[in-house]
Amino acid sequence: QEIRLEDYKAPVFTIDKIDLTFRLHDDHAEVEARSLFKMHGDAGGALQLDGGPFMDLLALEIDGQPVPADQFVKSADFLQIRAVPKTFELGIITKVYPKQNTRLEGLYFSGGNFCTQCEAEGFRHITYFPDRPDVLTRYMVRVEADKESCPVLLSNGNPKESGDLENGRHFAVWDDPHLKPSYLFALVAGDLACQSDSFRTASGRHVELNIFVAERDLDKCDYAMQSLKRAMVWDEEEYGLEYDLDVYNIVAVSDFNMGAMENKGLNVFNTKYVLASPETATDADFDHVEGVIGHEYFHNWTGNRVTCRDWFQLSLKEGLTVFRDQEFSSDMTSRAVKRLDDVRVLRMLQYPEDAGPLAHPVRPEKYIEINNFYTTTVYNKGAEVIRMMHCIIGPEAFRKGMDLYFERHDGQAATCEDFATAMEDASGVDLKQFRLWYSQAGTPKVVVRRERDGEDLILTFEQSCGASPGQALKLPYHMPVRVGLIGPNGGDVKGEIEGDGVWSSSECVLHLRNARQSFRFRNVPEGTVPSILRGFSAPVVLDHDLSDDELAFLAVQDSDAFVRWEASQDLFSRHLVKQVETNGVGHLPELLQQVFVGHLEDKDTDPALIAELLALPSEIALGQKLDVLMPERVHVAREALAKALAGASSEKIIALYHSLTAGHGYTLDQSAKAARRLRNMLLTYIALLPDGEAIIQAHYAQADNMTDCMAALTLIAHSDFAFRDQTLADFYSKWQKNDLVIDKWFAVQAQSKRPDTVARVRALTEHEAFTFNNPNRLRSLISTYSMLNQVRFHEKSGEGYRFLGEMIAKVDEINPQTAARLVAPLGRWGRVEEPRRGFMKDALTSVLKAPNLSDDVRELVEKSLA
Ligand code: ARG
Ligand code: ZN
Repeated sequence: QEIRLEDYKAPVFTIDKIDLTFRLHDDHAEVEARSLFKMHGDAGGALQLDGGPFMDLLALEIDGQPVPADQFVKSADFLQIRAVPKTFELGIITKVYPKQNTRLEGLYFSGGNFCTQCEAEGFRHITYFPDRPDVLTRYMVRVEADKESCPVLLSNGNPKESGDLENGRHFAVWDDPHLKPSYLFALVAGDLACQSDSFRTASGRHVELNIFVAERDLDKCDYAMQSLKRAMVWDEEEYGLEYDLDVYNIVAVSDFNMGAMENKGLNVFNTKYVLASPETATDADFDHVEGVIGHEYFHNWTGNRVTCRDWFQLSLKEGLTVFRDQEFSSDMTSRAVKRLDDVRVLRMLQYPEDAGPLAHPVRPEKYIEINNFYTTTVYNKGAEVIRMMHCIIGPEAFRKGMDLYFERHDGQAATCEDFATAMEDASGVDLKQFRLWYSQAGTPKVVVRRERDGEDLILTFEQSCGASPGQALKLPYHMPVRVGLIGPNGGDVKGEIEGDGVWSSSECVLHLRNARQSFRFRNVPEGTVPSILRGFSAPVVLDHDLSDDELAFLAVQDSDAFVRWEASQDLFSRHLVKQVETNGVGHLPELLQQVFVGHLEDKDTDPALIAELLALPSEIALGQKLDVLMPERVHVAREALAKALAGASSEKIIALYHSLTAGHGYTLDQSAKAARRLRNMLLTYIALLPDGEAIIQAHYAQADNMTDCMAALTLIAHSDFAFRDQTLADFYSKWQKNDLVIDKWFAVQAQSKRPDTVARVRALTEHEAFTFNNPNRLRSLISTYSMLNQVRFHEKSGEGYRFLGEMIAKVDEINPQTAARLVAPLGRWGRVEEPRRGFMKDALTSVLKAPNLSDDVRELVEKSLA
C-alpha cells in the first residue's frame, strides 16, 4: 500500500457542505454526517470513502433511503458504494469509542476531555469520508453531551447556537464559513477553564481569544495569550494577513502526539506549548510557547486558507510556516541567537536523517504511512528552502511572491510547485534549478578553496551530494552563499566581484549553480579573511581552508554572528577531532584558550550570544565530524577540553558568574534572559572546577525560577555529588503534581552522562510516575536518552539499543505514531563499528518480530535495516 506522488488524481466530485452531529456519551460517541455530493464526469459510478477499523457503521443512506447491504462494501479502511447518482445527500451514522483510543488520532479522550486529532488521516476514524486534503467543504457541527461533565463544547468556526436538552444534556452548534479539508476539523468537549482576551484586526474585526485549560493550569496561560496577540500583529505588519473568524480558540491537552494542531479556529495544543510560568518553565520553554503559538496561528493562512493538494506537498505548509515562526521569534527575541538555535537543531536532527536510511526529499515521492513524514526534513529543511528563496530573490520580491501566492490560491489546495512559481513570477528570477531542493534528498557538501592572483582573491567552490535511498546521482543545486570580507583591521571590506554575485553594503550573495564555480574578488588587501556562508545561507556542510589563526580572527572580529560562532566551533572541533582520532589527551592549545578568554572578556556582545560562543560543540555535533563514531572518545575528549578551559580561566569564569548574579532579579526581558543564559553556561564550566560543587549546590538552592533550577539540576544529575540522589528525590516530591515539570525530571536523568544511566533509565520505566500512554512522558525519558545522550545510548554492551528496541515494540501496541518516532536512532548503525553495528541491527530485527506490528513502525524499521 505504497502511495506515490506520480499517481495523484484529482477527485471526481465536490462536496457542497457537511453537517455533522456528535452525540457524546460516557463510553462511546455517535456521529451523524450528512454531506451534499456532486459527482463530476462519470455519474452512476462508484463512490469510495476512507474509513478505519475502530468504528461501527450504524446507518448508511442516500437521499434519506438506506443503502441496501448488497450495494456497498466495507473493509477495514474503506467503504465503497457501488453506484451513486449525480448529486445526492449522503447520510452516515458511525459509532466510535474515544476512551479506548490510545492512538490519539481521530476522536479520543484526554485528561477528562473529548478531543480530536485529524491531521493527517484521523477524520476517517470518525466517519467515512474522502479524507484527503484536496476535498474542501463547509462544515456545520452540532455537539451534544452531558452538561455537567462537558460544560464546554467546541468546534471550528464561529459559535452559532447553544442550549439545553433533556436528561441533563446540552448542545452547541458551530458554523465554519471557510472551506476546509477534513484534516482541519476539530472538536473538543469537556470541563475546561478559560482565559479570555480580545484582538482588533487592522481592518476592525473584533476577535475573541480564548485559551482553554484544566482549572489548575489557569495561572499559566498569560504568556501564550500575549504570544498570540504578538503573532496576530506580526502577521498583519509583515504580510498584511488578518484573522478571519470572530473567535480564536486554543485548547491545551496533556496527551498529544505532536506539538500542536492548527485546526481552523480551534487549535489543539500539547500543554507543553501553552502552559508557562517562571516557577515551572525555563526560558527555552517560554520561547517554544511563543514559537509554537505563532506557528499554529500563521498556519491560518499558510496551511488553512491555502492548503495542500496532497500529503507529498506537506512542506508547502510546514516548511513555509516554520520559516514564518522562525522569523517571528527572531523579531521578538534575538535574531542572531535564534539563528544559531535553528541551525543547531537542523544539524543535530535533520542532518543525521538526511545522511541515513530514512532520508527523503523535502517533497517525498512515496510513502506507506504519511505520519512518518512529519519529519525534520519536511519541517526544518523545508524552512531552509524557503529561507534560501528569500535570500535569492530578496525580501521585497519575497513579499510580492507571498501576495501573489495568496491572490492565486486562496481557498485552494496547492502544491510546492505553485509556491515556487509565485516566487518566480513575482521576482522574475528563474528558480528552475532551485527546485532541486524539493526533489533531491541528502545534505550537499561544499568545498571552498582560496587562491590569490595579484591583488585579487579567487574563491573556488565545489558542490557535491552523496547518494540517498533511491537517488544515486544528484544534480548541482542553486544555492545562495553569503560572503563578506574581513580586512586585516577587523572591519568589513567592500569588494568588487566578478562572477554571479551581487554586493550589498558589506557583503555579497554568490549564486552557486555549477558543480565547480569560481568567483574573483578584485583588489582585496593582503590579510583579508573571507567570511563564508554568513547567516548559514544554505543548509550544506562547508569545508574551507581557513587556518586556525584565521578562524580565531573571525571568531572575534566577524560582524556576522553565525560565522563568529561557527569559527569558534570549528576551532574547537578541529582540536577535538584530532584528539579523538589519535586517542590523545593533549595540552590545551594556546589559541583555543585565547579565543575562549576573548569571549569571556567581550563586553560588547549580547550575553546570550557570548554564552553560545563559549559553548563547546556537542558530542553529537562532534560525532558527525568523524567517519566512524567513537562515542566514548568523543565524550572523554570534550570533557577534557572543557575542564582544561575551565581550569585555565577559573577566576574569570567565577567572577563573571558572580557579576551576572548581582542585580538580576527575575524578569522575562530579553536582557534578563540573556544574562541567565550566560550565567548558566558558565555554571557548566564551574561544575568542572574543584570548588564547583558548592557553587552548584548554592545555585540550585537559590534558584527562584525553573531556568536556573534546571541548569543546576542537569549538572547535579551528571555528577557524583553526595547530594545528587537526595536532590532528585526532593525535586520529585516537590513537583509530582505537575506533569510538565516531572517530564523534566525524567529528561534530566535520561541525559546524565554517568555510566549507570542506561540502568537508571530502564528502572525509571517502572517508576510510579512513568506511563506508556502519555507521549510527553515517553519522549522525556526514552527519546531524550536515545536521541540526545550519545555516549550512554551507544553503550558497548548494546544495552541501550536493546532497551530502545523493547520500548518501540511496547509503545507500538498503544500508540503506533509515537512508537514510530522512536525508531530513527537505531537506524544509524552505518556510523558505528562492530560489535555496536550488529547490536543495533539485532534490536531492529527484534522489533520486526513483535506480533501485530503497525505499518508506522514497520515502514521505518524495514527502511532502517535496508
Ligand atoms: N500540522 C501540525 C503542525 O503544526 C502537526 C500535526 C501533525 N500530526 C500528526 N499526527 N501527524 O505542525
Ligand atoms: Zn505546522
